[in-house]
Amino acid sequence: MRQSLIVANWKMNGSIQNNQSLLNSFKQNLASVQHADVAVCPSFVYLQQVSDLLKGTVMTWGGQDLSQQNNGAFTGEVSANMLRDFGCKYVIVGHSERRCLYGESDQLVADKFAKAQSAGLIPILCVGELLEQREAGETENVVKRQLAAVINLQGLASLGNSVIAYEPVWAIGTGKTATPQEAQDVHAFIRRQVGEVAEKLQILYGGSVKGSNAAELFAMPDIDGGLIGGASLKADDFLTICQAAR
Ligand code: 13P
Repeated sequence: MRQSLIVANWKMNGSIQNNQSLLNSFKQNLASVQHADVAVCPSFVYLQQVSDLLKGTVMTWGGQDLSQQNNGAFTGEVSANMLRDFGCKYVIVGHSERRCLYGESDQLVADKFAKAQSAGLIPILCVGELLEQREAGETENVVKRQLAAVINLQGLASLGNSVIAYEPVWAIGTGKTATPQEAQDVHAFIRRQVGEVAEKLQILYGGSVKGSNAAELFAMPDIDGGLIGGASLKADDFLTICQAAR
């Protein structure tokens, strides 16, 4: 059995005050989350605050992105070792907002994946197709290409120490969720691509997961949890999602 994992991706949201009340209220109910590990990925500037609030709990935290470089003159960038310094367990790489809005290529995402692993972070590799790609029947090709960039650079076995998040771009922040069967089909496809690590690889679904649809998504055999955007900013919704994990 794979352990379920629910990851909050706060994106560019939060404030010192809101983070504190959100996490304090979530922590009060943490004992009711019985079947999932839970991690929070805040904006970099709140990592210290989040680690202070979560230290001593079973929750973990991570970054939303990292640099492919080690250190040096790269204004505005954050390195893998810096994330380690702040106790991060995870780092998201290749989120569609990075790929689409900031032009991150498959190769750059693979380089970031490698850098994360070499620093001892667990990369959460995001893959997923655009609406026009889905409509053109290209979903599997797109996901396969995104995975291949990492496999070619790091080898198949490297995926055994990572998490994959399938996030169809058309379902992110739109309120339009993939149906459980649509998501399951792509998750099963991903699992077929990863050879010997298939059984242990956690594959999360992301894209408009809410308290009201989480249970049916997490009931699918190849969906091992979720990467949650908007609904992770509300303690009640996020709790309901975490409780829905199997
Ligand atoms: P939403 O849950 O807001 O659709 O965002 C999903 C996502 O992009 C998580 O990384």
